[in-house]
Amino acid sequence: MSRELTNDRRTQAPPGAGEAERDWVARSLAAVWHPCTQMKHHERLPLIPVARGKGAWLYDRAGRRYLDAISSWWVNLFGHANDDINAALKTQLDTLEHAMLAGCTHETAVELAERLSALTHGTLGHAFFASDGACAVEIALKMSFHYWRNRGRSDKREFVCVANGYHGETIGALGVTDVALFKHAYDPLIRSAHIVASPDARRAEPGENAGDVARRALDDVRALLDAHGSRIAALIVEPLVQCAAGMAMHDRAYVAGLRKLCDEHDVHLIADEIAVGCGRTGTFFACEQAGIWPDFLCLSKGISGGYLPLSLVLSRDEIYAAFYDDDTTRGFLHSHSYTGNPLACRAALATLDLFARDDVLAQNEKKALMLMEALSPLRAHEAVRAVRRTGTIIAFDAVLDGDAARTFSRRFFEQALSRELLLRPIGTTVYLMPPYILDSETIALLASRTCETFEATLGQGARR
Ligand SMILES: Cc1ncc(COP(=O)(O)O)c(C=O)c1O
Repeated sequence: MSRELTNDRRTQAPPGAGEAERDWVARSLAAVWHPCTQMKHHERLPLIPVARGKGAWLYDRAGRRYLDAISSWWVNLFGHANDDINAALKTQLDTLEHAMLAGCTHETAVELAERLSALTHGTLGHAFFASDGACAVEIALKMSFHYWRNRGRSDKREFVCVANGYHGETIGALGVTDVALFKHAYDPLIRSAHIVASPDARRAEPGENAGDVARRALDDVRALLDAHGSRIAALIVEPLVQCAAGMAMHDRAYVAGLRKLCDEHDVHLIADEIAVGCGRTGTFFACEQAGIWPDFLCLSKGISGGYLPLSLVLSRDEIYAAFYDDDTTRGFLHSHSYTGNPLACRAALATLDLFARDDVLAQNEKKALMLMEALSPLRAHEAVRAVRRTGTIIAFDAVLDGDAARTFSRRFFEQALSRELLLRPIGTTVYLMPPYILDSETIALLASRTCETFEATLGQGARR
């Protein structure tokens, strides 16, 4: 297809967009391959030409605003163009933009590793840096396998993941991901992990609670580890909330139970806190609520305040010690060029400063309760199921079937945009995961417009 034809056909800007905006959208659709997108859908689906951001709001080129109620894919914690993070970055830019972390070090990487380790009370004593979440998952899997190899247990080379779990889209991360939509096409390339039952509290049978579902799910893990534990290197879990699964929340006892089973079977526990870390679930690390520490903890997204690509794997000193040797090949030789980038680390340090300064976790709890209360009319709605919350993550499911269910997410997205909200349901699950900086007025606006959007989407039927 010629570039001109592409431009001509695909010009979907938000409703009411002017010429200039349409031009940016057309240029983007002609030149940019957007992530997680069937590009043909943009023949109909609007693409927002974001010009700038401030606080919880994104502004398009015509000055229309959108409340970023999903924190730009769960990364933004303290708002767009945050004054404190901006100031820290400007200073860092004039000091050191980047230096390789092999053979060199710099104060931002050192300080960040030290401060994160301190947040685990020294349990996870070493930080390995990378850029994206999926890279952190790859690193944790490789480290686990290599640890066992260095300890003379090369037979431990299999992994376990939880049903419907999501850990990123590189080939290795897809091996421990259980979302057919992202994985199926690449099945022949992937070395799949064992999949254990989901602890999703929505699976409760009549008379059961979330703890009962967790116990049943742990029985499944126990059976697997009893049978194959000697071959298994690690189990990976998203503690408390499986976000991409549709904000599937589970009892904290599940995470504590996993720790115990992994210990009993000499299996590493990898906590993927890429989405749920950095205060999202109410504590800085989700694992804290289960009273455990994993062997590896993956962090990304919010750690840089949503500013720059940064991920880390925190690991126990015992793991680190297994690689410390005169033999080069026993070392962990993994690398990425931008590992430990000083700008990204500086953004992370400024983010941690805000946590320390502003009593963020306590304030978040108050705000989340306020938002939950403002959404309470949904609880009685006949087309709503499972209104739920963990920390600052709030979700509910639309009760729909057939075409209405299939097209719900797209229709809701468009209805939300027309009400100044950026919300992208996962299937029929509507979720809110806003930045931590909403004031009470914005919380009320978010709740009332979410309810309006829901009604308007249901009112449309499954027309498109
Ligand atoms: C739990 C979890 N793990 C891993 C990833 C992958 O992170 P990235 O998209 O930065 O590769 C995500 C992204 O949404 C995630 O939610």
